[in-house]
Amino acid sequence: MTKRLKRHRDFEISVQIKNDDFIRPPRDAQRNWLLNGTLNEFSDNLLALNTLARRYVPGSDALPTGDRSQAVMHDEDIMEDWQLPLMQAMAEGVTEGHGHVLEIGFGRGAASTMIQRCGVESHTIIECNDSIVGRFNTWKDDYPGRDIKMVHGMWQDTLPSLGTFDGIFFHTYPLNEAEFVEQIGESTTFAEHFFEHAAQHLVDGGRFTYLSNEMDSLSRTHQRLLFRYFDRISIRIVENLNLPETVRDAWWADSMAVVVAFK
Ligand SMILES: C[S@@+](CC[C@H](N)C(=O)[O-])C[C@H]1O[C@@H](n2cnc3c(N)ncnc32)[C@H](O)[C@@H]1O
Repeated sequence: MTKRLKRHRDFEISVQIKNDDFIRPPRDAQRNWLLNGTLNEFSDNLLALNTLARRYVPGSDALPTGDRSQAVMHDEDIMEDWQLPLMQAMAEGVTEGHGHVLEIGFGRGAASTMIQRCGVESHTIIECNDSIVGRFNTWKDDYPGRDIKMVHGMWQDTLPSLGTFDGIFFHTYPLNEAEFVEQIGESTTFAEHFFEHAAQHLVDGGRFTYLSNEMDSLSRTHQRLLFRYFDRISIRIVENLNLPETVRDAWWADSMAVVVAFK
């Protein structure tokens, strides 16, 4: 049995390793270094969260209920305005190569407009909601002559028959409570379930962006998940998000890390 303890005025961390072969590099000194390092990191994380948590807003009690796959919604129910700076940073990141871009989830079309402004060779959009596809048909009239395609359906059904892209912008939301529990409650980041599909549909060197749900940096768990599928990542923190106290999205902080992962 190995025990480690770290005390701070506000908390105490204690670890008991019951298996002597658990974390067992060749030398005891190396094992101590690994264990002490991880305890220090956990302690640093608690102290950082103590500061970051002061920037949270309470948010709304109402979680999305029922099936949203075909719901007819107002702009703010599709995506609240505070997310617009994130859409801009994600659009800039995914279009940097100006090639063929796939966007999943048209929503209000805010990100689509930004992607078009950044300039891309082609823009393919997957969207499952009939009324939102109706919004897309109106939106597209503002872009005559541009190579813009709508693929109407769930990405789970339509993506396999599409080829590869230079950039993928992923921004869906959970369509029902089961998706909410799986994709938000039980995941490190909302888009975790999509990482492997993004990697399959990107050219080498292609870029993938998504809502990270990380406030000031990326957790090691999140980074390790990304490095299972991608070679390199860039992270930019978008600050001063103007969240209402009663924000309805499952995010409560005034900053978010925008990630671009490169295959
Ligand atoms: C938050 S909105 C996207 C907002 C958009 N980025 C914007 O700037 O307006 C999410 C969109 O993803 C769509 N969506 C959710 N799940 C989907 C799925 N499995 N396949 C295709 N579209 C999906 C929803 O219908 C909705 O239009």
